[in-house]
Amino acid sequence: MTDEAAFVKWGVETRGENPKYLAMRWARYQAALKNKDLKDERNQRAFLMTPREDFVLDRNLARAYDHAFLDIGYGVTISGPHIVAKMTSSIDVQEGDKVLEIGTGSGYQAAYLSYLTDKLWTIEIIKPVAERTRSTYDKLIASGYTEFKAIQTRNADGYYGWADAGPFDKIIVTCGIDHVPPPLLQQLKVGGVMVIPVGPPGAQRVLKVTKEKGADGEIKVTRSDIYGGRIVPFVPFTKLDNDEIKGTHNR
Ligand SMILES: C[S@@+](CC[C@H](N)C(=O)[O-])C[C@H]1O[C@@H](n2cnc3c(N)ncnc32)[C@H](O)[C@@H]1O
Repeated sequence: MTDEAAFVKWGVETRGENPKYLAMRWARYQAALKNKDLKDERNQRAFLMTPREDFVLDRNLARAYDHAFLDIGYGVTISGPHIVAKMTSSIDVQEGDKVLEIGTGSGYQAAYLSYLTDKLWTIEIIKPVAERTRSTYDKLIASGYTEFKAIQTRNADGYYGWADAGPFDKIIVTCGIDHVPPPLLQQLKVGGVMVIPVGPPGAQRVLKVTKEKGADGEIKVTRSDIYGGRIVPFVPFTKLDNDEIKGTHNR
């Protein structure tokens, strides 16, 4: 974690990764450290362990580690590396935490999470995206990335969460909505934390939502903005209507 040459050598020798992408990952890691997007050593390690180049479209390979979101087809995107680092750091995932992600997309976010815990559930609403990402994980697992076995995937409308797997210690939402979905708040454990982009279309603020029991025994929900008020646009939190994606869950 402190020596680029040793990191690249390790990636090439133990995982057969391409030194070009290892060097790009190292450079983005350095930028994320400088920007304070990676809060602790566990997140720093997870960032370095996750091969982002395996989750982008071939035509975007040269830009895999750019400070930008990238098109992954079907009108959706893989979030930029700094946002993934900051959002994941903000929920402080501990070994053994049960984590639910809404918006699997490319699969990069859940892959990163698999270096922090081995209990992961992720939901994607677009069927061909969900199927493609499942097959990406299966290929990577077969080639030795056994951590990804921990990722349970589902093609569904994530607004309703994953009730039979909950409650969850942490929830991470990667699509934007104008309110916190009540089913997700319900499936969050007392003492749990959710990070979610909330706001009008294309102008969300990334909120950290905590659910606690107050001294009076009442459940208390608090919100804080992880970017101190900065607007961060996300793809919309869409809605399934009789197996068809129609509109959004915005109120
Ligand atoms: C910013 S993108 C993907 C980010 C993703 N975490 C990654 O690492 O690539 C957000 C994803 O949320 C999905 N999405 C939108 N509404 C959803 C819903 N109601 N349930 C589940 N997924 C949804 C989109 O289809 C899209 O793939």
